[in-house]
Amino acid sequence: MNMNIMNVDYSTKIPNNVNLSEDRQVLKALEGWHPGYIDWWNDMGPEGFQQSLVYLRTAYSVDPRGWAKFDYVKMPDYRWGILLAPQEENRKIPFGEHYGEPAWQEVPGEYRAMLRRLVVIQGDTEPASVEQQRHLGKTAPSLYDLRNLFQVNVEEGRHLWAMVYLLQKYFGRDGREEADDLLRRRSGDEDSPRMLGAFNEKTPDWLSFFMFTYFTDRDGKMQLHSLAQSGFDPLSRTCRFMLTEEAHHMFVGETGITRVVQRTCDAMKEAGISDPSDIAKVRALGVIDLPTIQKKLNLHYSLSLDLFGSEVSTNAANAFNAGIKGRYHETQIEDDHQLKNATYPVLKLINGEAKRVDEPALTALNMRLRDDYTQDCVKGMLRWNKVISTAGYDYKLTLPNVAFHRAIGEFKDVHATPDGILIDDATWNKRKGEWIPSTDDGEFIASLMTPVTEPGQFASWIAAPKVGIDNKPGDFEYVKIET
Ligand SMILES: [Fe+2]
Ligand SMILES: [Fe+2]
Repeated sequence: MNMNIMNVDYSTKIPNNVNLSEDRQVLKALEGWHPGYIDWWNDMGPEGFQQSLVYLRTAYSVDPRGWAKFDYVKMPDYRWGILLAPQEENRKIPFGEHYGEPAWQEVPGEYRAMLRRLVVIQGDTEPASVEQQRHLGKTAPSLYDLRNLFQVNVEEGRHLWAMVYLLQKYFGRDGREEADDLLRRRSGDEDSPRMLGAFNEKTPDWLSFFMFTYFTDRDGKMQLHSLAQSGFDPLSRTCRFMLTEEAHHMFVGETGITRVVQRTCDAMKEAGISDPSDIAKVRALGVIDLPTIQKKLNLHYSLSLDLFGSEVSTNAANAFNAGIKGRYHETQIEDDHQLKNATYPVLKLINGEAKRVDEPALTALNMRLRDDYTQDCVKGMLRWNKVISTAGYDYKLTLPNVAFHRAIGEFKDVHATPDGILIDDATWNKRKGEWIPSTDDGEFIASLMTPVTEPGQFASWIAAPKVGIDNKPGDFEYVKIET
């Protein structure tokens, strides 16, 4: 019994560990959706390389000790499957009004609309990032990076399948309509954009890709953690398995930025440059200067903060009360898990200053999750700054203030410097190029984005990784490019 749950059935067209072969109706719905998905992948997935053999991991089990196998696959032949973490026996709802009641195996009628909306919003981000990243293959700095891009892309595709399975199995006709709409919206499209702002932005170059996988995929991690607490058990199990894959996406971002910073520092040292802010001199070496890396970081962090929504939110309170969306590490928190009398300090704009004000903890859940996110983001900063200081440079990458460059929440109507000092529109317009990438910065980075396809070789602006994927040697041919 347990083995059946852990191992994935590859005999059906859609690999799964949810016994699809005995769930004819859902299998039919998914098989009906499949051709549209493949059309979407061909239209909006990675541009080129669809006939290349890519060394990808595919999940074959949900056992955390060994769940993936690596092999060469053509991306359109990737086995996108439906994989849920094993069902925990006697799982109880860990928070909200239904605290301690048995977890739901079916959607409770009263929460149907709320649940469907959360599943759709999560689902919409998955194909969006594939669309945003579709042009990057052409300019990959190495075969290793090209492979990582495609690994992220196919897994985001699988995450879409995960959400579509929930919609089709548990939400009847509306679920099937929502599943079709997920293939209809397009990142950045004027008429039918993706649902969230950061997922309609461009990912124009590889530094953006690393920033995106570090900062924006990390928002995904926080959301998945909250949904993994859900009283709706199938959602919880799906999100738990998605998190194992998501960890690799953030690894790609964190190590990608580390390698860019490393290469810049190495090049500066070799050239005897002592001032990392001497942008012209640094750029002449064919590497990305640290101030420009900071600007990219400012941009992607601030866009990602917007994904958490308004600091004070009754929707978030309702989802918590209902037992649908919990807190980060809910079961490890020591309190009543109902937030009956608790408060939480929320950052607010008061007389032109950002101040913490106590609000009912229930309505402050977005703020709390965002704080947890910021703490998680800091870890990368420490690692990157270590590289810089080890190289002997006095320069620190930092997270910008929460008031900086915001489109949602308390600070959406003001302008602030990365240090959080409020400034007027004129000052912002005059100085924003110091804080977020300017057209010039974009053009400079674009000028470095020439593809490198020789095994074991890397573009001028990025260091080689310390270890290979699946422990492969440095000159391993991660992608066999067909021409
Ligand atoms: Fe994802
Ligand atoms: Fe991801």
